[in-house]
Parts: sequence; structure tokens; C-alpha cells
Amino acid sequence: MNAKLLSTVIFILFLINRTTFADQSKSVIAFEPTYLSITVGESHSVNVRLLVPDIIPPNVFIELLYDNKLTDTQGYVNVLPNITFTQQTSIDQSRVIVIHALRNGHLVVTGQSPQINISSMSDFLLIDIARSNALNVLIQIVGWIYFVAWSISFYPQIILNFRRQSVIGLNFDFLALNLLGHSCYSIFNICLYTSHDIQRQYYAKHPHGVLPVLLNDVLFSIHAVFACFITVGQCVFFERGKQRISYIARIIGSILIIFLFISTIVALTNRLSTLNLLYFYSYVKLVITTIKYLPQAWMNYKRKSTEGWSIGNILLDFTGGTLSVLQMFLLAANYNDWSSIFGSPTKFALGLFSVLFDIVFIVQHYILYRTNTFIVSRTSLSTSNADEYTPILHRQS
Ligand SMILES: *[C@@H]1O[C@H](CO)[C@@H](O)[C@H](O)[C@H]1NC(C)=O
Ligand SMILES: *[C@@H]1O[C@H](CO)[C@@H](O)[C@H](O)[C@H]1NC(C)=O
Repeated sequence: MNAKLLSTVIFILFLINRTTFADQSKSVIAFEPTYLSITVGESHSVNVRLLVPDIIPPNVFIELLYDNKLTDTQGYVNVLPNITFTQQTSIDQSRVIVIHALRNGHLVVTGQSPQINISSMSDFLLIDIARSNALNVLIQIVGWIYFVAWSISFYPQIILNFRRQSVIGLNFDFLALNLLGHSCYSIFNICLYTSHDIQRQYYAKHPHGVLPVLLNDVLFSIHAVFACFITVGQCVFFERGKQRISYIARIIGSILIIFLFISTIVALTNRLSTLNLLYFYSYVKLVITTIKYLPQAWMNYKRKSTEGWSIGNILLDFTGGTLSVLQMFLLAANYNDWSSIFGSPTKFALGLFSVLFDIVFIVQHYILYRTNTFIVSRTSLSTSNADEYTPILHRQS
């Protein structure tokens, strides 16, 4: 598929762009660790290290900033002490500060100093403060269940195709759009999850935001691309009748790919931030999520049958979608951060739209076309594949 190739090229270009960005930042102090995830009532010590050992002024005085504000911690943590590095401490240029979490939310701690230029973009400490550890565990569990449900949701269709040695009933527009969508979503997830530079851009935009991408999102989307490829392979080798990708789907796919291609070029010339570029990828995924099931629902309607379209896939998808939306609400409650639900519109819409369409398919499969599976498979074969199958069916009937 051309779409896949293009996405790969874009992704590589993107990686090159990312590394050149990262080199520009220059750290003068370091927080160790740079990210802290604690619960209200807990304390944690953090090391602050001076990274410029041969500094000329004798003393380096640092005042800490909370979300870029002096002294005002907004009640998230205790007020942290000022730090002074003196020349006497030439060997171990580090200080320990103890952080007590007082209120749930997100906080970015940076510093300012008359002697050195501390960049809030590169020298900072991120603190996520959770309401409760139990809620955190629940969030993890829900996350992994929907990850598993969504990941295995591809296989009932693959197994069904394999059993029937046929992909008749599986809509090719759906498959093509799904492949493009998951490729875009993989790019979004991988970049946001792995690049600290992009995470900084994200936190600069959402200072109190929680990163909307977790490890299971990354694994899910990569696996989804892989599963789509298996299904594409089945479409090549198994019986497929006269099914093909419609012109409408080709046009929509091309427009989306051209849009991403141009956006990537613009981002490479630094006229668009990499974070915004990633959002464009996620918007493409969003557009695809909203339309990808339409051709399949329409095809089921025209055939008056869901045969060849796996209901197992839909039931698992429904489970995954419901739990993913639930997880976002749990996260928001735990970190008192309802903006995070909308910080990742893709993830939210992915869950919501899946659930809505799954309900349509469940109604089609179990109510509308319940009795039609066997009979219609014959009539649909005899109408769509007049050449090959009609004689056999005629002999049978
Ligand atoms: C840090 O130093 C500033 C300026 O000298 C002072 O106003 C502030 O109260 C100090 N903060 C702490 C926590 O000691
Ligand atoms: C900090 O930045 C200012 C202006 O950007 C520059 O004049 C100054 O020399 C810098 N100081 C250090 C210690 O790098």
C-alpha cells in the first residue's frame, strides 16, 4: 500500500527533525528524577545537580518556580527551599530537596538564578500527584484490559477469514481506512511517548496536563498496524469476489495523505511545531475513526447480512471502547484534571465512536439480519459472483 510507504517516509523525516530539535536545548541544572509520580500525603526526595561545574561566580543562587510562578505552589506541594551552590562543594554539586505532596494535580518545577540561565524548557521537574494509589492501580488494570480487548479484537476477523478462506463480507474501504488510521495513530503515540522534546512542547501548552499517551497505547497502535497488514494479506490470497476499495475511499485516503505530507514538509521547515504536526496526525486518525465503519454498515445493510463480518471483533471492540472512556474519566478524577480528556481528542473519540458504531453492528447482527446469515450468503454469492459460484449453487438447490 502506498499509504503505508508514505507514512514510513514521513515518520523517518520526522525522527530526523526531532533529533535536530533536541540538540538545541542546553541544560544547566538537572532534577533527578525529572519526573515524579506521587500520591497526596507522600514525600519524595529529589536531587538538584549543577551541570556547569567551572562556573565563574563563586556562588550560584537558585529560586524554584512552580508552574513558572515564584513561591506560589498553588497548594500542590510544600514551599521548597532556595538552593545555593558554593565553590566549596566543588566535588558534589548537588542538593537534595524533599517534596511533600499536598493536593492532587500536576506541577512543573523549574528554577531561576541571577548567575546562570535556567531554561524552563529543558531544566524542569514534572510532578504528577494522584488522589489515591488504589485509583492508580485501577487505572492500570482498566488500561491493560482494554488494551488486551482491543488488541485481540482484530483476530476474530482474521480467524473468520481464514476459516472461510474468503474475505467476502469484509469491506475493503474499512480495512484501507483502518490501516491508514492506525498508522497515523502509531506515529502520534510513538513520538509523544518517546520524545522528551515533544513532551515538553505538550506541557508548555498544557502546563497542568497529563501526557495523554501511555505505553499500552503505543503497543496497541503498532500491533493494530501489524494486524491490518495480516488482513490485507488475506484479502490478497483468499477469495474476495468483486470487492475492491471504492473510489470514494481512495479519494478520501489520498486527500488525507497529501494533507499529512504537506504538513510534514511545513514542519520540517520549522513553520509548524512538531507537536502540532502530531496533532494533525491524530486528527487524521480522528476523521478516519468517525467514517471508517460507515462503508461496512452500509454494505451489511445492502446485503441484509453480517456474514463475513466478525461479531467477535465488534464485541471486543465494544469492551475496549467502553473501558478506554472509563479510564480517561478515572485519570481525570485522580489528577483533578478534566482538561486531559480533551487534551487527547483522538483517544476520547476513538473510544466513543467505536462504541456507537459497535452498537449499530450489534443491532445489525443480533436483531436486523439475525436470520439472514446462511440464506443470504448464497444469494449474495450468486448475485455478486455469478461467474464462479452460480453453477454449484444451482446444483445444490
Ligand atoms: C528565597 O530567596 C528569596 C530572595 O532572597 C526570598 O524572598 C525567599 O523568601 C526565599 N525563599 C525561601 C523558601 O527561603
Ligand atoms: C544569560 O542570557 C543572557 C541573555 O540571553 C546573556 O546576556 C547572559 O550572558 C547569559 N548568562 C549566562 C551565564 O550564560
